[in-house]
Amino acid sequence: MADELVTLSVFTADVGGFVGHASSHPDVLDTARERLQAARGKGRIKDFHILRCGDDLNLIISHSGGLNDRAVHGLVWDTFTACRETAEELKLYAPRRGMLEDFAGNVRSMGPGVAEMEFAERTSEPVIVFLANKIVSGSWNLPLFRVFGDPFNTSGLVSDPAMLNGFTFRVLDLRERHAIDLKTPEELHLLLALIGSTSRYVIASVTRNTDGEIAAVISSEKFDVLAGTVCAGCEPAMVVRCQAGMPAVGEAVEAFAFPYLVAGWMRYSHIGPLMPVPFYEAHATRFDGPPRVIAAGFQLSGGRLIGPLDMFDDPGFDRARKVANETADYLRRHGPFRPHRLPQEELEFSSMPIILEKVKERFRKI
Ligand code: F6R
Ligand code: MG
Repeated sequence: MADELVTLSVFTADVGGFVGHASSHPDVLDTARERLQAARGKGRIKDFHILRCGDDLNLIISHSGGLNDRAVHGLVWDTFTACRETAEELKLYAPRRGMLEDFAGNVRSMGPGVAEMEFAERTSEPVIVFLANKIVSGSWNLPLFRVFGDPFNTSGLVSDPAMLNGFTFRVLDLRERHAIDLKTPEELHLLLALIGSTSRYVIASVTRNTDGEIAAVISSEKFDVLAGTVCAGCEPAMVVRCQAGMPAVGEAVEAFAFPYLVAGWMRYSHIGPLMPVPFYEAHATRFDGPPRVIAAGFQLSGGRLIGPLDMFDDPGFDRARKVANETADYLRRHGPFRPHRLPQEELEFSSMPIILEKVKERFRKI
């Protein structure tokens, strides 16, 4: 008999901020918990866990429905909708910006972000769910490359026989809307040539070359309710399988010991350092940031989510936080100037067309 497959699905949505866009209210999390507890009781899902990073609510769900399962997506939609109602009762901030009004079968095209993978659970199955706030999807390119392609980060690439053949990265070209699979180490330079352009090329998933086993997946694209289009999406989630032929847990989090620069932060219009924080520090307050990431470690046990372990609640990341704060100070002193402020074509909430319209008559030929 084939091994039973488990699906691990991570859903993210902004259903209303507390306070402003800084964090999420406990009542909203309680609403999500009640809904999913009832669904688990009826056997509709195997297990779940609720987290929040900044003003994004995250539902981590294990089930046996496979990818894009209509019933699970429907349950998630109802859950987010109920959470939005709780947010509206409390008059939390901007609950109507994160989701469309009517469900159409798959939450992927309706506002929330989705990162899903299906696999046969190994004898022991450690996974890490990374969740972020005030960042865009391409922000995972650097750590994914370091974890699955760089032996200076992941020693297993040169010492674990199952990883010696490397990994294959699926890269989306957001502009042309097509994807390419690039195999490392052979095509490492080609991969880097593309994924360094984080606003256009986004690593969507990673598989192991030896056997094609899924190793990592992110929520790469989602419907932007404000912009009215499917786009790179903000606040992406990332799931990484670890140990025994996959990167070790410590190698997966090591990529965040350097607080590299990402696009997002205030009004999704600035670059800033990505700060790894424990769950209790995942409130984006200073200048609506700085951008931050949390890491929730789980052991799967017959689909049960044993955890989470708060992976960045470790003094080993204190220095990353300190460097991030110093970098934030340095960048903030640039105010509205590049490179702190994003180039015009990457500005998410650009008021430039309105401003230019206002003054267009006043430009004179020189
Ligand atoms: C949104 C975000 C925030 C907002 C900013 C302005 O999550 O990143 O930085 O862009 O707080 O918000 P509004 O336009 O709602 O006043
Ligand atoms: Mg938000």
